[in-house]
Amino acid sequence: MTDASAPTKTILRALKGETQAVPPVWMMRQAGRYLPEYRATRAQAGDFLSLCYNPDLAAEVTLQPIRRYGFDAAILFADILLIGQALGAKLWFAEGEGPRMETVTDAAGVAALRPAGEVHETLAPIYETLKILTRELPRETTLIGFAGAPWTVATYMVAGRGTKDQGPAHAFIARDREGFAALISVLEAATVEYLSAQVEAGAEVVKLFDSWAGSLKGQDFDDFALKPTARIIAALKARHPDLPIIAFPREAGERYIGFAKATGADCVALDNSVSADWAAEHVQKDGCVQGNLAPHHMVEGGEALTAETKRIVRAFSNGPHIFNLGHGITPDANPDNVQRMIDAIRG
Ligand code: CP3
Repeated sequence: MTDASAPTKTILRALKGETQAVPPVWMMRQAGRYLPEYRATRAQAGDFLSLCYNPDLAAEVTLQPIRRYGFDAAILFADILLIGQALGAKLWFAEGEGPRMETVTDAAGVAALRPAGEVHETLAPIYETLKILTRELPRETTLIGFAGAPWTVATYMVAGRGTKDQGPAHAFIARDREGFAALISVLEAATVEYLSAQVEAGAEVVKLFDSWAGSLKGQDFDDFALKPTARIIAALKARHPDLPIIAFPREAGERYIGFAKATGADCVALDNSVSADWAAEHVQKDGCVQGNLAPHHMVEGGEALTAETKRIVRAFSNGPHIFNLGHGITPDANPDNVQRMIDAIRG
């Protein structure tokens, strides 16, 4: 007997808890500067933000790695910082330097942000990109939407840029814990609005990127990483009960243990600082995991890439697993190595 309600797409099956002989695979930053076709389309768009807000070109770069490699999932092409811009904080990308934002450093700055319900005006082109993708993607490919988790987005809004240790956001917490909690709260509400609209536009799965979760310790991890994630997931599942959600509390270390249960996430994405064997024992026991090949292998390739890919597949082979890198593929990666990784997985 086959269950008519069971999903047929490999990614959705993994997210339902199914163990598969060949794990599905996609890569963070699979549409990115390591691909010549991405660089060409980005040049056509002019700059990175213009690419994000151009639905035709954003859909095109989303599709490029699907055409080239046949990944099991496509991830919407956009950026986690767009939500800050939609809330009224100016955002720009200094060429070769990364993101810059207008800073929010106190309760008055938080109060001056737009209400969460008003983010759609700025973000409408993103929903348009998803609508194009629902038409253009191959039948077997899962469409993943995403947002930054509140803490990680807040670290950029407070500092106005990326920082090594997220010092300015930690300083805000030390100065005015309630004021900082208000910023997290605005971001939480906006993220629920944003992801819900992404689902309505065709995203089949959503992922929350908490890239700087690892810099939060103890109660701060609970208050600013775990609980906001749990509340966002609860709100999304209330609106979309069947929506699978992937959480990525990057570099959470031992806090990966129990994270899925505590937040309601269907899958926890693992960075490459934890070993696959450890994660299989302590994290995968609660459900699907995603990860965790170190991105440097995509630069070097060779036998080490093949061996490490197979080792990770084997380590997670007794439970649900989506193969991915532990972080985004870097611009200096060799596109041939991506195919080598896929061949090692699919054999
Ligand atoms: O995974 C994907 O390909 C989907 C699209 C996506 C991008 N950024 C495109 C992008 C996603 C999911 C993100 C998430 C994102 N953005 C995160 C969380 C994940 C992580 O990497 O930790 C963060 C922290 C950001 C903020 C951001 N965007 C930074 C710090 C930078 C500069 C660093 C860099 O790689 O240049 C970006 C730019 C960015 N976002 C690029 C891409 C493809 C490169 C832009 C370019 O073409 O020049």
